[in-house]
Amino acid sequence: MTTSKKRIAILISGRGSNMKSLVEACRAPDYPAEPVVVISNRPDAPGLQWAKEQGLPTLGLDHKRYESREHFDGQLMSVLEMSRVDLVCLAGFMRLMTPSLVERWRDRMLNIHPALLPSFKGLHTHERALAAGVKIHGCTVHLVRPEMDEGPIIGQAAVPVLEGDTFDTLAARVLAAEHELYPRCLALYASGQAIVENERVSIRAAERRDGGLLVPQIVD
Ligand code: GAR
Repeated sequence: MTTSKKRIAILISGRGSNMKSLVEACRAPDYPAEPVVVISNRPDAPGLQWAKEQGLPTLGLDHKRYESREHFDGQLMSVLEMSRVDLVCLAGFMRLMTPSLVERWRDRMLNIHPALLPSFKGLHTHERALAAGVKIHGCTVHLVRPEMDEGPIIGQAAVPVLEGDTFDTLAARVLAAEHELYPRCLALYASGQAIVENERVSIRAAERRDGGLLVPQIVD
């Protein structure tokens, strides 16, 4: 276990419920990370307002005001460096990043995706899971690589797809699992209990109770 808390930036684009679950987890004295800035590419994101109310440094970086993705990512990179960030947590940040930004933060940038990767990369994961008739769905926390929704998996949470599920019921079940999974994965990674080697994440023996797989209790 490291002695100092990792300084994290949380990047959002909207509601920010995953950001909120990370910020709340960070309040525990023994949690190995602390939020130092919350950034949104949409200055009117509701999550940004919530973070401000918590007294956290926030920044709205409106992507529409930048002439190219490179310019936007360059600005983002400067802010992350100025804030002396150790780890970047993407939490519903709905923008593709340039490979140079991703490589600069290689093994220091985490993302949560609302599906069991490598299934259902991209958008509309719940609709696609319902259409495919899968019986198990879920979410994944992984390290970010330049290819969309690729990268070593830190942890996954599985939820059942129930008879009669709609987009809303399935999305709510997965979201509840996301809120448990992301803080647990960040804690494992920030504390050095989860390490990446040869593009696989392994979890040290003492923490290997569930091997990064979280199967939440389902209450209908
Ligand atoms: C979450 O379900 C997250 O997994 C997803 O967006 C939602 C954001 O909700 N992320 C992606 O689809 C990334 N490709 P939130 O703003 O309430 O955390």
